[in-house]
Amino acid sequence: MAYDRDNRPDLSNHWMPFTANRQFKAAPRLLVAAKGMYYRSEDGREVLDGTSGLWCVNAGHARPEIAAAVNQQLMSLDYAPSFQMGHPISFDFAQALAGIAPAGLDRIFFTNSGSESADTAIKMAIAYHRARGQGHRSKIVGREKGYHGVGFGGISAGGLVNNRRIYPLLPSDHIRHTLDVERNAFSKGLPEHGAERADDLEQLVALHGDTLAAVIIEPVAGSAGVIVPPRGYIERLRALCDKHGVLLIFDEVITGFGRLGAPFASHWFGVTPDIMTTAKGITNGVIPMGAVFARREVHDAVVNGSETAMEFFHGYTYSGHPVSCAAGLATLDIYRREGLFERATELGDTWAEAVHSLRDAPHVTDIRNLGLMAGFDLEPKPGEPVGARGYAAMVAAFEAGILIRATGDTLAMSPPLIVSKAEIDRLVTVLRKVISALD
Ligand SMILES: Cc1ncc(COP(=O)(O)O)c(C=O)c1O
Repeated sequence: MAYDRDNRPDLSNHWMPFTANRQFKAAPRLLVAAKGMYYRSEDGREVLDGTSGLWCVNAGHARPEIAAAVNQQLMSLDYAPSFQMGHPISFDFAQALAGIAPAGLDRIFFTNSGSESADTAIKMAIAYHRARGQGHRSKIVGREKGYHGVGFGGISAGGLVNNRRIYPLLPSDHIRHTLDVERNAFSKGLPEHGAERADDLEQLVALHGDTLAAVIIEPVAGSAGVIVPPRGYIERLRALCDKHGVLLIFDEVITGFGRLGAPFASHWFGVTPDIMTTAKGITNGVIPMGAVFARREVHDAVVNGSETAMEFFHGYTYSGHPVSCAAGLATLDIYRREGLFERATELGDTWAEAVHSLRDAPHVTDIRNLGLMAGFDLEPKPGEPVGARGYAAMVAAFEAGILIRATGDTLAMSPPLIVSKAEIDRLVTVLRKVISALD
């Protein structure tokens, strides 16, 4: 069915996620097609994708290789049960993922989303401690402004207040976020100040004793507006987790699959977590899938130390879905063949220079970047709710032909890794015009 503005569906039935439904349905923004770096809107305009969809379409849109692999898999084995039965392609895909994983993180559990990956990782951490006779270790430490999806584990560990405040939560506590605009404004790459914030973990250990199971962080916080960790912070947190027997989980749902210029942020920082969560770019966003990578020790403790035949009471009907695995294998092939994991490094200087050129644009109070990610803080609009100016910028950008994201008054960009220098230039040129026209 070809959609356009004269052929718009009834919008009332679909209760939309993370959307102001009434506002959206009063003035919808509908995308009807995509190819390469561009979406097409229902009114026939080309919209340059400055966000890889939702941080996921790392290899660009409508890749024929992925479509062919999906089609072929659908016609040969469309579905097979994943409990007490297996199918070869999930083992193949796990092996391929292990081949690009940080050293030692080679035991792979499949999920369908980043949220499920976060909850799975949290359960793994608790199960690991229990299997080693440390069942008292069950609390999770997250970080303010962290986002780990919308499951109860993820919102408990997460640090975005609107996502958590009305729900009962798992036992958890939080270290501070690392955004320090006063000391680090307009940092290019890693900010200089703030590594000491990792030491917050010491205070939580003093408070909670040996009841902490794991710390979960996004190496670079995405959803809160691209918060880049200060130099030395990640290393320090790793050392403290080791010192206190607490597992370290990296949520690489955004940073995984090339966003920083390496397969994973773990490679980029040279720091290996005990568990790593992924989703999004694992299939180039085209089929829902996630994967949790565990260190062999974590896997072995649970699997070999189990009191029951089935070692880990956890899984999803679609864990390792054959069609998702086919999409994932074809995606990895593209990443490798086209050198896309190196792309953010190759374009790093161009990207940093381009995004920081907006430093003197009106309303801009900070710009942060790492890999092919950037965040732009706008001064909130006086007399209006927080986020009004950011939202206005996002809508105006869409109308001007670029897709960006707004969280509060922070704008984020993270284009597909196939982006050209000319397209980077266009993103920034249009964004400057948009921001300059805001009141
Ligand atoms: C770091 C991080 N973790 C988890 C999630 C949740 O992923 P999903 O929406 O696939 O459940 C997201 C989504 O943006 C994310 O950015």
